Amino acid sequence: MRIFGESKTRLSIGVRFWLSSSEPDQEDDFRDRWICDQIPSYPLHHHSLILPRKKFGYRQNMDIEKFMRGKRPTWAEVNLDHLESNFRMVKEILGRVMAVVKADAYGHGALPVAQRLERCGVNSLAVAVLEEALELRKMGIRCPILLFNGFWSGQEEEIVHNNLTPAVFSLRMVQDLARVANRLKTKATYHFKIDTGMSRLGVDWTKAVETVEDSSSEQSVICEGIYTHLSSAEIAGSPSNRIQIERFQNIVKSLELKNFPLKWRHVANSAGILNLRYGWFDGVRPGLVLYGISPLEQAVEMPLQPVLSFKTRIMQLRRVHKGTSIGYGGAYKTDQESLIATLPVGYADGLSRLLSNKGSVLIRGHKAAIVGRISMDLTLINVTHVPSVQVGDEVVLIGKQGTLEVVANDLARLTLTIPYEILCGISRRVPRIYVGA
Ligand SMILES: Cc1ncc(COP(=O)(O)O)c(C=O)c1O
Repeated sequence: MRIFGESKTRLSIGVRFWLSSSEPDQEDDFRDRWICDQIPSYPLHHHSLILPRKKFGYRQNMDIEKFMRGKRPTWAEVNLDHLESNFRMVKEILGRVMAVVKADAYGHGALPVAQRLERCGVNSLAVAVLEEALELRKMGIRCPILLFNGFWSGQEEEIVHNNLTPAVFSLRMVQDLARVANRLKTKATYHFKIDTGMSRLGVDWTKAVETVEDSSSEQSVICEGIYTHLSSAEIAGSPSNRIQIERFQNIVKSLELKNFPLKWRHVANSAGILNLRYGWFDGVRPGLVLYGISPLEQAVEMPLQPVLSFKTRIMQLRRVHKGTSIGYGGAYKTDQESLIATLPVGYADGLSRLLSNKGSVLIRGHKAAIVGRISMDLTLINVTHVPSVQVGDEVVLIGKQGTLEVVANDLARLTLTIPYEILCGISRRVPRIYVGA
């Protein structure tokens, strides 16, 4: 029997998962084997399917079909083997990795991602806020978790109880944490966040050495690391990278001269890993590259494999006359007799409305343009040129089909945003199917 994560607590809250297939082709059996639906405390997406690794290829497609039967055919496939491959690449080069799984692992699903990374030996995870870390702890994730946004007054006890590591950016925060740890007769850990020039969050670099040092007088707390974040790591030649890294380096040196013990000194996010060898220090904090996407405009040497694909199927096909207005506001008019396909996906699923009359999708190995305005739940595409197109055909919104590929960066470029927003924007209404679990 295969349970997602550690077993007993999970069963006790009533979640039953895919139990690996003794007789996978029996329909009733199948329906029984995935249920993680509408359990309020459960962090997975509204519906999720976890496919065991042995179900690759033909069998896997059959399972996806079965899972989607009786549902709107719009889904995201999350390939955990690709995640592992991206992770191992970073880990091999850089040694110590803190994987960023905030915002539900950039829309991929924080729990399955964290579980796979933990199994692969990730050194730490990072999330933005306490609630995200608590979900992971509740579901059995044991490795260190850094809270990038620190904590708010009243959250200290849960942090200490759950062995979480908040970022701190003032002496006051260290004192608050120490008071609670002392009361609970334990030790709490933290990382000092230093603002070296991004002017967003952290103790100011000019006061960093004295503040970090002062914090060491507190009992019941251990400063495990110091870190900073770069404002322009995507731009290799930006002078601000060198300035920020030099400031950080000087702080590290001063603390080392004073024999201040530090386990972690970390700076580089994905762009820092790809662009700034001199900013690696003794740990890195990748997010986007783990999900197989580059934050850079230019091509990168690292053979990243995108983890997430976003798919749907044609729900209706209509032949329309030349000059027909399509969708809300008639924002597209056919310039010839056309075949228009309706897709059951819209901006409420994370397909940005800014792709209206701009984006394209993949179908039967061809590109097809999104025509008219994307609505909340429906999108129209022009498939006049696609041979043998049929209702039910698979349509790729993000991902590969044949020799063609749409990556999150393509959609980001068209919608004047970044791939992060594209991935985080895929809503909870879209079921996630985990491949290679
Ligand atoms: C402090 C910090 N470090 C690391 C990361 C990971 O960034 P990326 O996904 O570009 O690797 C983030 C993400 O926003 C962050 O806020």
